[in-house]
Amino acid sequence: MKNHLANPLVNTRYMNSEDLARVERRAVEFFCAGTGGPEEYTGKDMLATHKGMNINEQEFMTVIDDAMDALQKNGIDDATRNEVLAILWSMRREVVRV
Ligand code: HEM
Repeated sequence: MKNHLANPLVNTRYMNSEDLARVERRAVEFFCAGTGGPEEYTGKDMLATHKGMNINEQEFMTVIDDAMDALQKNGIDDATRNEVLAILWSMRREVVRV
């Protein structure tokens, strides 16, 4: 979230959210649940979340770049980062132009 807010390509998307603390909490849950738990994801599915936002390909790539950067800054190894990259990329049809 810190990266997104500092990134001019996507920051207005997040600044317009009514409850950024909730989005951040859910994003953490989503990530933790998707990488083995034990946290549970309590938010909406990806299609329902992003429907109507008209997110484009560049924004999608930017959000993934931000996530990769955060993982690298936190010392996550190459193999794990690549795995996360593939998983995030696989969600594009539920996020881009939906
Ligand atoms: C694979 C990529 C992505 C994942 C895994 C993801 C995941 C999530 C999650 C878990 C939430 C919280 C949902 C909830 O509160 O129920 C969320 C919300 C949000 N996402 Fe994404 N997202 C992705 C891509 C994007 C992109 C590319 C954008 C636009 C630049 C975006 C913009 C937003 C916004 C603005 C919200 C907040 C909506 C609100 O205020 O309720 N997301 N996302």
